[in-house]
Amino acid sequence: MAQGGLNISSGSHRPNGKFSKDSTKVDSFSRRQKILQHRKSLPIASVERRLIEEVRNNDILIIVGETGSGKTTQLPQFLFNAGFSRDGTIIGVTQPRRVAAVTVAKRVAEECGVEVGQKVGYSIRFEDVTSSSTRIKYMTDGLLLREALLDPYLSRYSVIIVDEAHERTVHTDVLLGLLKNVQIARSKSFNYHLDNESKKAKNGMLVEKEKDPQSISFLKECQGKKFPPLKLIIMSASLDARIFSEYFGGARAVHIQGRQFPVDIFYTYHAEPDYLDAALITIFQIHMEEGPGDILVFLTGQEEIESVERLVKERLQKLPENNRKLVIFPIFSSLPSEQQMRVFAPIQAGFRKVILATNIAETSVTIPGIKYVIDPGFVKARTYDPNKGLESLVVVPISKAQALQRSGRAGREGPGKCFRLYPEFEFEKLEDSTKPEIKRCNLSNVILQLKAMGVDDIIGFDFIDKPSRSAIVKSLEQLYLLGALTDECKLSDPVGCQMARLPLDPVYSKALVLASEFKCLEEMLITVAMLSVESIFYAPREKLEEARTAMKCFSSPEGDHQTLINVYRASDEFLEKRKLGLGQEKIDKILRKWCKENFINSRSLRHARDVHSQIREHVEQMGLRLESCGDDMLQFRRCLAASFFLNAAIKQHEGTYRAFSTGQVVQIHPSSVLFRTKPDCIVFNELVQTNHKYVRNITRIDYLWLTELAPQYYAMQS
Ligand code: CDP
Ligand code: MG
Repeated sequence: MAQGGLNISSGSHRPNGKFSKDSTKVDSFSRRQKILQHRKSLPIASVERRLIEEVRNNDILIIVGETGSGKTTQLPQFLFNAGFSRDGTIIGVTQPRRVAAVTVAKRVAEECGVEVGQKVGYSIRFEDVTSSSTRIKYMTDGLLLREALLDPYLSRYSVIIVDEAHERTVHTDVLLGLLKNVQIARSKSFNYHLDNESKKAKNGMLVEKEKDPQSISFLKECQGKKFPPLKLIIMSASLDARIFSEYFGGARAVHIQGRQFPVDIFYTYHAEPDYLDAALITIFQIHMEEGPGDILVFLTGQEEIESVERLVKERLQKLPENNRKLVIFPIFSSLPSEQQMRVFAPIQAGFRKVILATNIAETSVTIPGIKYVIDPGFVKARTYDPNKGLESLVVVPISKAQALQRSGRAGREGPGKCFRLYPEFEFEKLEDSTKPEIKRCNLSNVILQLKAMGVDDIIGFDFIDKPSRSAIVKSLEQLYLLGALTDECKLSDPVGCQMARLPLDPVYSKALVLASEFKCLEEMLITVAMLSVESIFYAPREKLEEARTAMKCFSSPEGDHQTLINVYRASDEFLEKRKLGLGQEKIDKILRKWCKENFINSRSLRHARDVHSQIREHVEQMGLRLESCGDDMLQFRRCLAASFFLNAAIKQHEGTYRAFSTGQVVQIHPSSVLFRTKPDCIVFNELVQTNHKYVRNITRIDYLWLTELAPQYYAMQS
């Protein structure tokens, strides 16, 4: 059943001796040999020459190939070897997810035998591991968009590969539109100069195309520079290349024949009321009853993953010693990269890996050794209601296309099994494919960036799938209310320009810009960093009371924002006292211990500390005043009200709240420190929709501040 030009026998589902006895101690030479062998065995290896030819002959190329065929790791190396990054130019590869950018860059660096950050590097928001010698650069699609702000012609890149285009993230979609224009502009500039140079050579003088107003205005725009043409490659795992091909004027599409072994699909008889519990039972069923092979479980986020991780560990303890040979690997976007990489390392012989992943493992990250997939059928996705102007992250059923991708992961190295934790008739009810993100998210962020790049006509922008007019209008309105746009809908100076420079949601950028006026930028920096990560507190079911008591030490009667600041400062204080003379590893270790004692999620806190130092750099470069409001937290709360006025709500009877902007009835989430006090008026940062509409990350404010600090909105309302 193996397809493609590869001779993989379907019986051996353990290639590469992954479970051989000394696999953890292989020396680096044999590891390199193994990697070389592995590279040669990938489906893409046999078509290297043909692919290079295709890239040479086509300025835009669409490559479709099954997950695991070697697109992401190999193609950039092929291009490098074929000389595509001569003259110090870069081969750029965009990924929708941070994890993929990091893990793939590390893998490719290893394959090339270099340190990551040298020839092969990566750059993601808040982490740049590249240098002047980087020639293959992996990055998130959002990051390349940001680069286009500073370098509109992306002049350092000779090739840009938009990977995982089928994911259709909002950044990928905007990037495709932008790259289309950049490519046209660069080839115009190149041809213009070529033309001129050849005429110059002929006539011995420079001939200007004076009569062509279009090329004159273009030359003005790019300041007469000569850019080399740009090669564009769109890669996708799904089979539908048509939409990309049509968008790029009938661009050529090639398919890489992958390999896929049969995967048996199992459904449950009935709908499962608790899919986490069902996943747990299935993990142990496989472990006890099935042959060797690793298990991949798709969950929706960090919290779910961590709770399943704990439950599996607990249950393992109850098993006899020789049945405990399970090793758990979580993998999700905000996991620190060293921990993400562990999932790829071989484990002790006789053990089985259980990988608990978000949908990053659907296509972005290829983990070898998977034979069993457990698919509860859900994903955390953004939804946006333009009429209400509110965006939320909700757990929704996956699409059929996603279900197929997920089950496919079990059949890469041999026949596999996929356990769908829902009945077959539920599968039939799923949507065929996932709606592009641009159709279900708040567009303020990308509109702000497009405006900063000089794209003023957003409605006329050449999107691959146009967002609805109402969504665009609502986002423009939001940016206007935040003061980022002028009455003429142009980027305002300095507020809009400053906001566009920060790699944050516009509301958070505005909060930072305002905080420097309110003299509380130190506090706001911490707040924004803490709000940028997944939940800081964790409360295991069995230690709920202890966790609550621990949280009380930090909690502020004013609200969650100040509580988060208290946690951050307490961790700072704790480290200040101890870190003198300690190495990073030791610091991390004592911080982990402190977190554990205080029921703080150490991964989230570490991530927040990283984010904090990165944003601090940005605001310092922008010349914003980094001051603290000291004990005057009233000032800080007023700043929160001035920044988050679009998310203000007022108490109604029965302790529910009405959001001013949308009229929605919401409740305070039980995790908030204000859950019991229920103040009269609040601002919040997040709306979570389960069976109720909950708001999270809340601060108590005075209603009158809204009319005073956001008259542009609240004067209009009354
Ligand atoms: O992009 P595509 O899904 O076509 O494949 P890839 O990501 O280039 O992966 C090719 C192979 O490299 C797979 O067999 C992965 O298991 C392996 N790989 C790895 O071992 N470690 C990584 N960090 C990334 C990929
Ligand atoms: Mg890939």
